Amino acid sequence: MIKPARIAPSILAADFAFLADDVARVADHIDFLHVDVMDGHFVPNISLGMPVIASLRAVTDLKFDCHLMTLNPDAYLEDLKTAGGDLATVHIEVFPDPREVAAIARDVGMEFGIALNPPTPFEAIEPFIEIADMVVVMAVHPGFGGQGFIDAVLPKIERVRKFVDSAGLATDVEVDGGIGGSTIRSARDAGADVFVAGTSVFRAPDPVAAVHELRTAAGQ
Ligand code: DX5
Ligand code: ZN
Repeated sequence: MIKPARIAPSILAADFAFLADDVARVADHIDFLHVDVMDGHFVPNISLGMPVIASLRAVTDLKFDCHLMTLNPDAYLEDLKTAGGDLATVHIEVFPDPREVAAIARDVGMEFGIALNPPTPFEAIEPFIEIADMVVVMAVHPGFGGQGFIDAVLPKIERVRKFVDSAGLATDVEVDGGIGGSTIRSARDAGADVFVAGTSVFRAPDPVAAVHELRTAAGQ
């Protein structure tokens, strides 16, 4: 059964010079904080790592939904947990069989997520959905905020939702990229229940109002 919509703003779109302030402003209005870690190898961009996550952990109790766009995240899961990460999402394109990396995440005490890029078919993750707390359907090509939502991923969200429901799983279905007032509804209708929103929240003139607008647009 689909859960209520949860909003997970991505700090990638925040002002890194005022990260604590930007997070504090929305903290009481959001569900998770989405933390985009990029290594310049899996994606053509470099964002932030453990020191930033640890500093942020000192100022908030929010759940850190860590999206690891890196080639060897398995080597850093313990450090990520120590820094304050709660959920570690790795890409199926990096780990075609993610069972081992999932076990490492569990061993260090983190929840585990599997992400798939827009061109990657549902079948790539199908055998592993049961070992994940969250499936992250990318609605943009990872690496940068502010891109347009790719409508062609909607049927894939539907398939994930159908699988999760028919197997009686509690897996969260997150959509990441291009989420705003005009796209969140179609992602919700397709079956997503966690919505990553970077630009549409942190670049809005009033980020708190933006979060509420997203909830309304999602139909909640
Ligand atoms: C893209 C990241 C996304 C991104 C979302 O590589 O994984 O989380 O920050 O940003 P918007 O909402 O601006 O598309
Ligand atoms: Zn992300």
